[in-house]
Amino acid sequence: MKSIVVYESRYGSTEKYAKWIGEELNCRVSKIGDVNTEELLSYDNIIFGGWLHAGTIKGFKHIYKYIDKFRDKNLIVYYVGLSIMDDSVYEEVKKNNFKYDDNIKQFYLRGAFNYNKLTATDKLMMNMFKIILKRQKEEEMNENTRGMLDAYTNPIDFTDKDSIKPIIDEVNNMNL
Ligand SMILES: Cc1cc2nc3c(=O)[nH]c(=O)nc-3n(C[C@H](O)[C@H](O)[C@H](O)COP(=O)(O)O)c2cc1C
Repeated sequence: MKSIVVYESRYGSTEKYAKWIGEELNCRVSKIGDVNTEELLSYDNIIFGGWLHAGTIKGFKHIYKYIDKFRDKNLIVYYVGLSIMDDSVYEEVKKNNFKYDDNIKQFYLRGAFNYNKLTATDKLMMNMFKIILKRQKEEEMNENTRGMLDAYTNPIDFTDKDSIKPIIDEVNNMNL
């Protein structure tokens, strides 16, 4: 069974995970923009990774546009974000990215954040987001809100090689 890892990453965490997964599976790793759909469809196992941007999985549209063509493939999607995964994050990601109740295997991995390294556009967006977050009363904030507000001043990096294990196990199980 042939595998490929394709990804979209802006600040490096999703790419780092892609390379770790590629090393473990001993397979090709490529930016999603560098592989066309026909070429992707020549693989049996397609592992796509994208980072979360306001609840959207960046780059996933390249695959989702042709989702019917991937129905007989083993498609795994991992997405990388800062949030602690909970029901509300899961529901938001589902609503924004998976229109039908797709049978796509999904994994969430935690990324990194350094406000000072953001592009001007991302800084602007994050500043607007901060205003919204700060409207909440301190006692009403959940762990995600507090963690996010803290990240504006303290860069954080949750990337962890061990967290790819469920993805590797999934691919290995699919190919038994
Ligand atoms: C503009 C912007 C929007 C973001 N939106 C989300 C989000 O909706 N949910 C989340 O968990 N993380 C969010 N993040 C955090 C990123 O997903 C996180 O920094 C990730 O590691 C970036 O991936 P990359 O390093 O591969 O580019 C956002 C970050 C930026 C800069």
